[in-house]
Amino acid sequence: MRMFGKAGKAAAVAAIAALALTACGRADSGSSSSTAGGEAFPKDSLIGVALPQKTSENWVLAEKLFNDGLTSAGFKPDVQFANGGVSEQQNQISAMVTKGAKVIIVGAIDGAQLGTQLQQAKDSGATVIAYDRLLLNTENVDYYVAYDNFKVGVLQGEALLDGMKAKKATGPYNVELFAGSPDDANAKVFFDGAMSVLKPKIDDGTLKVVSGQTSFEQAVTQGWKAENAQRRADTLLTGSYGTASLDGVLSPNDTLARAVLTSVKAAGKPLPVVTGQDSEVESVKSIMAGEQYSTINKDTRKLVEHAITMVKDLQAGKELEINDKDSYKNGVKTVPAYLLPPQIVTAENVKTAYVDDPVLGPITK
Ligand code: BGC
Repeated sequence: MRMFGKAGKAAAVAAIAALALTACGRADSGSSSSTAGGEAFPKDSLIGVALPQKTSENWVLAEKLFNDGLTSAGFKPDVQFANGGVSEQQNQISAMVTKGAKVIIVGAIDGAQLGTQLQQAKDSGATVIAYDRLLLNTENVDYYVAYDNFKVGVLQGEALLDGMKAKKATGPYNVELFAGSPDDANAKVFFDGAMSVLKPKIDDGTLKVVSGQTSFEQAVTQGWKAENAQRRADTLLTGSYGTASLDGVLSPNDTLARAVLTSVKAAGKPLPVVTGQDSEVESVKSIMAGEQYSTINKDTRKLVEHAITMVKDLQAGKELEINDKDSYKNGVKTVPAYLLPPQIVTAENVKTAYVDDPVLGPITK
């Protein structure tokens, strides 16, 4: 979990900049027992990829990209979804260890519930890479690869303010806050990033959270499920918004953004400014239609590509490229990370943001 305040964040940014300048963002290659320049394990080794539930399109896309990318690099991929929940994911990781996987890439459902399986992975000599979501409270995670989650939240908070200002030049604005699933380590980081922008505006009265529900615990959406967000939005609208307008909603991703918009439409209210994340097809269309206000472009192809580069480097016995050594503290250790930069997308840049995207490019032309 990202556990730093503003000063820590600034220090982390400075550290990343320093690494970029000196081009020396390299770290020791985890647990692999390679000799310098020698292969750490055979090129046709099994690589396990444990993905969570299909809570958003990015995970579905990742499955195909991992299968194709690992195969074309010469590895044997074993890519699994755990739609049945945490125990299914635990069993899948144990099975990957038994089958002799050399690297296990994990997008956890619950980052704190895999301790036993990650210990098994470590004992077998496998390297563990946390993918997109951090693995918590364990020594047995070697690397983390993700988009900068805190920055995602900051961009969402800024977009919410910009969107409302564009509709009505001055506040106060009535807003509600939604967060992701509390078992996903990312959810709190997104929320903290957004609140680093929004909290000062709540404190100075520019923003009014009419329901009074400003804490992460009050804002969470179990399982990242649309129906849970929709139900909470229904309750908030009925309970707190009689004739008052709702100007904006912080939504942590596109699935939940569309659920909130559905709820507001059903209540017959004017649509508020609603943020999102993931560049899901329906949300990109909604942005173009002037409904959802923003999303975040976190190109899954680049994230998977970097995860596979890590696997290739491990196989070749090379040191891995790391650009953040300080930010991702998991409760037990600081996990060396490679972070990619997220991009905010609104109606303003929707036509240029996805020019290289095979699915979104044609839609946004
Ligand atoms: C991912 C988001 C996604 C969410 C729900 C998070 O961990 O980072 O991109 O919206 O999971 O699937």
